[in-house]
Amino acid sequence: MTIKSLIRTIPDYPKPGVQFRDITTLLKDADGLRQVVDALVERYADANIDKVVGIESRGFIVGAAVAYKLGVGFVPVRKKGKLPGDVLGHDYALEYGTDRVEIHSDAICPDETVLLLDDLIATGGTAEAAAVLIEKLGGQVLECAFIVGLPDLGGQQRLQALGYKTFTLCEFE
Ligand code: PRP
Ligand code: HPA
Repeated sequence: MTIKSLIRTIPDYPKPGVQFRDITTLLKDADGLRQVVDALVERYADANIDKVVGIESRGFIVGAAVAYKLGVGFVPVRKKGKLPGDVLGHDYALEYGTDRVEIHSDAICPDETVLLLDDLIATGGTAEAAAVLIEKLGGQVLECAFIVGLPDLGGQQRLQALGYKTFTLCEFE
């Protein structure tokens, strides 16, 4: 089965009108999980990546697997207050209010080439905040990659307008 066909859609979650693209059905499928990891590893195998950064929480799952197979380290970007060491944080706008993501200040070295990974891009606010943190530490964001893109929500365009390359394994209108 294809990656897209293994993703389940849950209507009206977390609120009425939202079609929630649920990757747990993809992750629990051994061949689906392998397809995702292998496709990303193949894409970045020769890119001289130094670190994979994954965004809490679903970005950790695929991010750690891809980092392991690329033979590089994994760095978590977490929601505020979760990382124990010295952190750098960045606030970003939500529909109502703001949120904040953080990274350990020593997680990336200057001039390291970084692959940013998450399960899904919607508005792009979370990925943009993570990319800003990577750059504040001196890292170069090679590309921002996602299992799922929701192009109607404009996230990929937003990142591209800021100069970031984006890649998605599948998209849902
Ligand atoms: C989801 C998703 C991305 C983000 C995408 O995470 O996994 O990280 O939202 O939205 P955006 O493009 O509009 O910023 P969520 O905040 O639900 O956290 P979770 O992975 O811990 O469930
Ligand atoms: N699925 C998973 N995470 C999300 C979604 C979705 O459809 N929209 C925003 N974050």
